[in-house]
Amino acid sequence: MTIDTTPEAELPETGVPVAETAATLIGTGGEWWRSAVIYQIYPRSFADSDGDGIGDLPGITSRLTALSELGVDAVWLSPFMTSPQHDAGYDVADYCDVDPLFGTLADFDLMLARAHELGIRVIVDLVPNHTSWDHKWFQEALAAPEGSPERDRYMFRDGLGPNGDEMPNNWESVFGGPMWERTTRPDGTPGQWYLHIFDKSQPDLNWENPWVRERFHDILRFWLDRGVDGFRVDVAHGLIKEEGLPDYTPPADAGSMGGGATAGDSLVGLEPGIDAHASDDPPTPPYWAQEGVHEIYRGWHAVLEEYEGDRVLCAEAWVEPLTKLARWVRPDEMQQAFNFTYLSAGWSAPELRAVIDNSIYAFGTVGAPSTWVLSNHDVVRHASRLALGAENLQGAGIGPKSPGLPDPVVGLRRARAATAVMLALPGSAYIYQGEELGLPEVIDLPDSARQDPTWFRTNGEKYGRDGCRVPIPWAAGTPTYGFGPATSTSSWLPQPTDWDDLARASQEGVESSTLELYKRALALRSQNDLGTGELSWLEGYGPEVIAFRVGSVTVIANLGATPVELPVEPHLGDVLLSSEPLTEAALPTDTTVWLRA
Ligand code: NOJ
Repeated sequence: MTIDTTPEAELPETGVPVAETAATLIGTGGEWWRSAVIYQIYPRSFADSDGDGIGDLPGITSRLTALSELGVDAVWLSPFMTSPQHDAGYDVADYCDVDPLFGTLADFDLMLARAHELGIRVIVDLVPNHTSWDHKWFQEALAAPEGSPERDRYMFRDGLGPNGDEMPNNWESVFGGPMWERTTRPDGTPGQWYLHIFDKSQPDLNWENPWVRERFHDILRFWLDRGVDGFRVDVAHGLIKEEGLPDYTPPADAGSMGGGATAGDSLVGLEPGIDAHASDDPPTPPYWAQEGVHEIYRGWHAVLEEYEGDRVLCAEAWVEPLTKLARWVRPDEMQQAFNFTYLSAGWSAPELRAVIDNSIYAFGTVGAPSTWVLSNHDVVRHASRLALGAENLQGAGIGPKSPGLPDPVVGLRRARAATAVMLALPGSAYIYQGEELGLPEVIDLPDSARQDPTWFRTNGEKYGRDGCRVPIPWAAGTPTYGFGPATSTSSWLPQPTDWDDLARASQEGVESSTLELYKRALALRSQNDLGTGELSWLEGYGPEVIAFRVGSVTVIANLGATPVELPVEPHLGDVLLSSEPLTEAALPTDTTVWLRA
């Protein structure tokens, strides 16, 4: 099969034989990001050097060797820029400075230099859909008259009705409540409304305005000049809104980030079985996945090309089907897009096989690698998510009163098996800090500790994302498990009291630990070039098993309830890796094994 990788290429029709797609459609090219394993650092919760309970850049620098030992190729840092922190830094008040909570620009430079010294590339988070309401652009817009160029940087509109006191349309914020907030004029009378897809402290920029586009080219160059290797682009499907901002009521079962899945809301609404081979465009909400976003990313691609070496743009775009998401990674746009369809797949062999196949196929049509991701700072950690009961609205976050709470033993076992599948797949894999320790979602956070705007904007109806953001444990036996200095006694979200065994130091060198499983998988992935390999499916293991070969490694994952016979005796030395101990020539339930092919 020959694939046309020009940007205008028609996306292929449905019905391409599965085995053929998986084996033949892997993008080629020597760029590092095609096969990189990228570790997400959530700075608030990674390492706290000054004991204020919040992680910071010097903390990251001091812990980079641990990531080098883990074997990752790059790190992505969630936002550390100046921000009032109403959405944990995704509300940026100055794109070109570091928030004092996290340190200084000099701390950033030191962190970057240390990472590069260790051979780790650094990707920073760019938040272009909205600024903080503290940003000077927004403050200037508020101070300027209606209809002024300053106002035109954002999405200001007059209200409806005789007094303008009705919202300009019926859109609802991803975090709950309306998507509009009314301003007050200097004389105290009510003024125009502004649009905010997320919290009211996050006004949306007007990306139809060339001034906004130019400013973001400046911001890209600011970080590229400092030496960053790329950007993770927040809400990369939201920048352009449908002309006229028509009313829109989402289907009852839809997630709010588009494509059925969402940050901070739900993973509800994804159809198992996936329709990534579909070439049609499903209806799109007027604020997601508008055609106009692509021109913006072509401009950014050109900015990255001004710099030597391979730089990467990775889209956070909750877009389905995968064939549509592939438009974000056409050769002249971004390099990667998070594969949330993969993240959202249930614990089912047919579903997992379909999504892997469809991903390689869809991204392959445009010459891009697929990415793979199981956890991040917006979703329930996969060591809990994969064991949630069917009745649970999983992405809404889970708390003590959620239905279908997970069995932690089953969850961790499945998470280890799922990771062992993911790290064998060709393409680029993202790891979220703490998953290499097998951390579960923290379910029983006290209500008083919760900080996610989702929790507040839904009046506690949705727990939100705090449970996956709890500071990670480094060492047993100190009040913050070594997250902060020895003298610190607390962290911004309280850590559970039973994390001693999950701490990194407790797992180091312990063969059965999740940390050692990750290290082994990453070393083998690199030694066997799995990230750039070709995948071919192996048949005959039964409906609850997925089995495939990449290069010289055979991967078999048993997602079913009964053991499956292995083609080799484990003691013969053909087992490269197993997510659980193997005692006989059978693969137990919820276990993945890598064999020498
Ligand atoms: C997606 C980010 O991952 C999430 O954490 C944030 O709340 C929203 N975008 C808004 O920026």
